[in-house]
Amino acid sequence: MGAPRERTDVSLFARVWVAAGPVLERVGLARARGRLVAGLSGTVVEVGAGSGVTFEHYPPEVRRVVAIEPDPHLRAHARRYAARAAVPVEVLDSVAEALPLADGEADAVVFGLVLCTVPDVPAALAEARRVLAPEGELRLMEHVRADGRLGRVADRLSPVWSRLGGGCRPNRDTRQSLVEAGFDVSGLRTRPFPPVLPLTPMLSGSARRR
Ligand SMILES: C[S@@+](CC[C@H](N)C(=O)[O-])C[C@H]1O[C@@H](n2cnc3c(N)ncnc32)[C@H](O)[C@@H]1O
Repeated sequence: MGAPRERTDVSLFARVWVAAGPVLERVGLARARGRLVAGLSGTVVEVGAGSGVTFEHYPPEVRRVVAIEPDPHLRAHARRYAARAAVPVEVLDSVAEALPLADGEADAVVFGLVLCTVPDVPAALAEARRVLAPEGELRLMEHVRADGRLGRVADRLSPVWSRLGGGCRPNRDTRQSLVEAGFDVSGLRTRPFPPVLPLTPMLSGSARRR
């Protein structure tokens, strides 16, 4: 478990992400967020919660959301959304690679547009696996590397994309990372998501521990 830390860096990307939020939600992200958390209940960990725009989509059966957000600017926004949410939400300064939860404490772990950015994906998925209850599920909405020519374009764009996008990578093979981390990925689907990220399709659905 990681000790909470306070940081002072405010990335340009965090500011841009907050400013772009309303447009992105209107062109499809809000609907996708509703699907991301539909049917969840109990204790949920939302990793890399950003500005907190997913909080309003949690169903009333969710008793507690532990929202992890390392960026101070986004965390401040998330705390405002948490105060207005219909379910209890705690927003904590921590990282995916060291979740501040006990083994098996979570009924679900939610990753929405985060595994593209976390520096150490295997460590983040090992932590998700550790905190999940045996019957718990991982919920995902992650943009991933496309097959074929688009994937090769994403490979070339990745260094500049990452610099402008707060460390985001357009070419991660997240499905394979999940398999290597011991998750059953048969409940995940990859679809184009043209309104938001034409270059990188969206991997979404539910994954469980194998
Ligand atoms: C593209 S934003 C998505 C934010 C939010 N999940 C959403 O859907 O709007 C990527 C997020 O990942 C967070 N992030 C980056 N590295 C992280 C890490 N190691 N652990 C947890 N979150 C991280 C960023 O601070 C940011 O909030």
